[in-house]
Amino acid sequence: MTPLLDALGRPLGSLRLSVTDRCNMRCGYCMPEAEYTWLPRASLLTFEELARVAGVFAGLGANRVRLTGGEPLLRHDLPALVALLARDARIADLALTTNGILLGRHAEALRAAGLRRVTVSLDTLRAERSLAFARNPRHAEVLGGIDAAADAGFSDIKLNAVVIRGFNDDEILPLLDYARARGAEMRYIEYMDVGGATRWSEGAVVSRREILGVIEACHGPVTPLPEPGSRAPAERFRLGDGTTFGIIASVTAPFCRTCDRSRVTADGTWFRCLYGEDGVDLREPLRRGATDEELSDLVASVWGARRDRGAEERAALGARAVLYPVEGLRADPRREMHTRGG
Ligand code: GTP
Ligand code: 5AD
Ligand code: SF4
Repeated sequence: MTPLLDALGRPLGSLRLSVTDRCNMRCGYCMPEAEYTWLPRASLLTFEELARVAGVFAGLGANRVRLTGGEPLLRHDLPALVALLARDARIADLALTTNGILLGRHAEALRAAGLRRVTVSLDTLRAERSLAFARNPRHAEVLGGIDAAADAGFSDIKLNAVVIRGFNDDEILPLLDYARARGAEMRYIEYMDVGGATRWSEGAVVSRREILGVIEACHGPVTPLPEPGSRAPAERFRLGDGTTFGIIASVTAPFCRTCDRSRVTADGTWFRCLYGEDGVDLREPLRRGATDEELSDLVASVWGARRDRGAEERAALGARAVLYPVEGLRADPRREMHTRGG
């Protein structure tokens, strides 16, 4: 099959499927507000509709699918969706990004249904910080969820921490130790000015360079791990003792040039970029009875014209304010990171 390329020569390689916009945490970098506008329930795609969308994307080359939210495990019976997707032989990699609260309850069923990989958001090891920063009183369940995932047989577990000055920048080393002790890979993420991050400021971003500085001051020089052909956003490094970790430097070193991702919200709106202003409505043709071929033609023609470079364009602005003020987010909840998939 000749790969489908966008206008900048980037293939369609990965689909992030948001299964709900709801979340049971309120991380300060994502959902800091007191109230949110939710997607109407009737607009949420059913599992069959989500699997059809994933199939159409997979047919065009997106053989990596990641389930996201909001918090995907809030979607009732998520393992049933995993089972539907796992049956599609074109999907080579099926992963989940979760905040971990409900992972202990569902890890075994997810694994049995055919999920391959799990990434858990873990910004702090301290329960009182999680309560203050993410209004999460269930930090112990998150830690239990990570252990449950390992017990269920997930082997390449990743732990994601968004590093924010004055919140968790003193936990870079403890988080690395924590991940290492569990055979998981720690990944540090620069705080991005995405929709939803209404408290973002340039000063709060802890850069890739600073993160590396802290790690090298303690562990000595780290070795970058070249990954030819990789389109993952993380740059990976190895410590002298073999421990690996990743840094996702979307703010100081945006990677739009190799971005092969698509995002579909729980109501079937397709975005070609994390920062993209307008989405393509896939729900309407789906519910009107469009065939897979018609859906595939639509996706192919839109992808062919894709020129998005959202993070690079933001970086080129120099000094910048938040992407959307609160009113802009209320006007269109699809601009929120928790709606278009973290
Ligand atoms: P794997 O490489 O398959 O493990 O997936 P991943 O690295 O995409 O996993 P994950 O969902 O953990 O993504 C990590 C973080 O990278 C996200 O939570 C975002 O903060 C950031 N990120 C993901 N996708 C994008 C993107 O399209 N653009 C930018 N700028 N950042 C992204
Ligand atoms: N900056 C960086 N990452 C973010 N996420 C959500 N909001 C932001 C932000 N402002 C990502 C985190 C989290 C995942 C679900 O979404 O990586 O772990
Ligand atoms: Fe936190 Fe993820 Fe929920 Fe956003 S969607 S509040 S990042 S757990």
